[in-house]
Amino acid sequence: MMNAFERFGLLINDRIVRTPIAIASMAGIVDAEYVLKRADHVGMAFIGGYSIDQSTMNAAKGVTKEGNRKEFLYDNPVEELKKQMALLERSPVVSGLNLRGSAPESYAAIARSLGESVIYEIDAHCRQPAMVAAGCGEHYLKKPADLLAVVRALKSEGVTVSVKFRAGVAADDRQLTRKLWESGADILHIDLMDFGSAKLRQIRNSCPLILIANNSINTFERMREMLSHGADIVSLARKSDERTLSGLDAAISRYASEEGWYNSPKQLCRGGDIRALAFCCMPVKDCPLIPTLSRIGLPKEDYIRLKLDTVKGTPLEEGKQTCFGSLAWCCKTSSPCMFRDMTLKQLNISKKEYMRMKRELSETIMSRVFHVIPSDESS
Ligand SMILES: Cc1cc2nc3c(=O)[nH]c(=O)nc-3n(C[C@H](O)[C@H](O)[C@H](O)COP(=O)(O)O)c2cc1C
Ligand code: SF4
Ligand code: SF4
Repeated sequence: MMNAFERFGLLINDRIVRTPIAIASMAGIVDAEYVLKRADHVGMAFIGGYSIDQSTMNAAKGVTKEGNRKEFLYDNPVEELKKQMALLERSPVVSGLNLRGSAPESYAAIARSLGESVIYEIDAHCRQPAMVAAGCGEHYLKKPADLLAVVRALKSEGVTVSVKFRAGVAADDRQLTRKLWESGADILHIDLMDFGSAKLRQIRNSCPLILIANNSINTFERMREMLSHGADIVSLARKSDERTLSGLDAAISRYASEEGWYNSPKQLCRGGDIRALAFCCMPVKDCPLIPTLSRIGLPKEDYIRLKLDTVKGTPLEEGKQTCFGSLAWCCKTSSPCMFRDMTLKQLNISKKEYMRMKRELSETIMSRVFHVIPSDESS
């Protein structure tokens, strides 16, 4: 029986994430009790949103007075959040706090009071006019410099930072994600709205951060679609009922145990993200590989060397009878190929183990591609 780390290889805030499914926050609804009822079926949860300073607490009161939205209301955010964290302390769920604050210091002060055991998620998502006017939620997407200042303030407290935002609101999502990466964010939690997996792939190809895909990911088919375009985790809010969550958990656990790489990308020529370079051929034909290499600034010769050096001394180095003389260049197991399969058989390697090794190769490629932020965008 595989353990969760062998199955998914997900470690966040120094804790193993048991399954790549998260509960996304819903103000006034998702608290510790809500999470504990669903703890057997999720790996992560973001409780909240919680308002953490006077401006946002006033805005929360205003929102509830208007009548149709729930909010968590209290006078002392530190006391309330400590209570919630204590309830979650012994749960296996890796927890985050979705927080609405109007200034970097509000976030830094909360982090100083609550410590490192929890993830701090900046709510750059809320579009309630009172919250935006208080200087949080979507305000941060219109004024990204303010958002980056909050990320930096939290990082200076040494905590793990997630940023929750809606795609398509900032002037340029790709640039925003680069800046968030540069400022030290660890996780991007993206409500993809109607943009779907093409937007996710664009973000995956822009930064090496942990990506949580959100919005109507309520079926296994949708979940796999997101995982194969760059998501590490998917999250659910409105459909975070036990039945949906447990169905997704069972399906992805089975998939990971059978296939070996739970979020394997599609091949590059089928619309995959750059992790798919692990499955790409030698750069010899007219196909999406060469334009992709030039877009990410990886010269052809470096790509060849990187793959050959990475597989050296591993079973992926073998494969004389394959197209390019090594499994390093071989396709995904979902593409049928008798030459690859014959090699795997001779080496006594299962397809699942082959996919696991391709995942390691892709991680090395990703760390090379993203070892520095391109200078034109780092200023
Ligand atoms: C009632 C309600 C309250 C929400 N409150 C928050 C919030 O406080 N902070 C936040 O980042 N997102 C909030 N969201 C957004 C959800 O986390 C999620 O991004 C959105 O519902 C889309 O995901 P879904 O299709 O899985 O519901 C809220 C959504 C709903 C429906
Ligand atoms: S190198 Fe091969 S796998 Fe990659 S895009 Fe080209 S044809 Fe597809
Ligand atoms: S041998 Fe098969 S798996 Fe390997 S590159 Fe050729 S077609 Fe793809």
